[in-house]
Amino acid sequence: MEGKRYLTFALGKGRLADQTLEMFEKIGITCEEIKEKHTRKLIFVNEEQKVRFFLAKGPDVPTYVEYGAADIGIVGKDTILEEGRNIYEVLDLGFGKCRMCICGPKEAAELLLHREQIRVATKYPHIAKDYFFNKKHQNVEIIRLNGSIELAPIVGLSEVICDIVETGSTLRENGLYVLEEVCALSARMVVNQVSMKMESGRITKLIADLKAALAD
Ligand code: PRP
Repeated sequence: MEGKRYLTFALGKGRLADQTLEMFEKIGITCEEIKEKHTRKLIFVNEEQKVRFFLAKGPDVPTYVEYGAADIGIVGKDTILEEGRNIYEVLDLGFGKCRMCICGPKEAAELLLHREQIRVATKYPHIAKDYFFNKKHQNVEIIRLNGSIELAPIVGLSEVICDIVETGSTLRENGLYVLEEVCALSARMVVNQVSMKMESGRITKLIADLKAALAD
């Protein structure tokens, strides 16, 4: 893993970052600094392996990677689809599995069958637009929210939502159902397009090592 320059990784904050670091440990890439719970540091370095990591808000990870501020990013497929950045998606890491779905009360299923003009609340307007306009050819109004999306159909803001479903408990506890599935999601590794050429040796080895660890 020796190399002249640092290979910089942008990790989406939270559970994804913890699982990523666990997986990297399996292939011998470690970073002790990042494990300190109460640190206010933003960037963590392993001098010996010439790698550094930083934590960012998920939606910002593809931005850092597109501009080359990070060579590599680990982020959910939902964010990749939503952000639409010029980056290479090179590997499905297999964790963080969930689904992007259209959900709502049972009665709303009917509204999806007849191409009705309905309102769709979501944190993912691009994914929702692509699904309704390009795939279903249904002319809907997209309402952008920042969280607790399940509230929207309950309080009458929208007929349905386009949101992530993992265990399904948020839907169950609020009397909502999966009405249609948009796509499957999981954590992905993304790479800056120039880094892929300039650091192709290290990055190709990294991908191969991760693939081997995933196959174990
Ligand atoms: C996500 C998603 C759903 C929930 C799904 O929200 O938007 O609300 O998790 O998980 P489940 O199927 O296991 O119940 P998140 O917790 O990220 O918070 P948010 O409401 O701020 O989007």
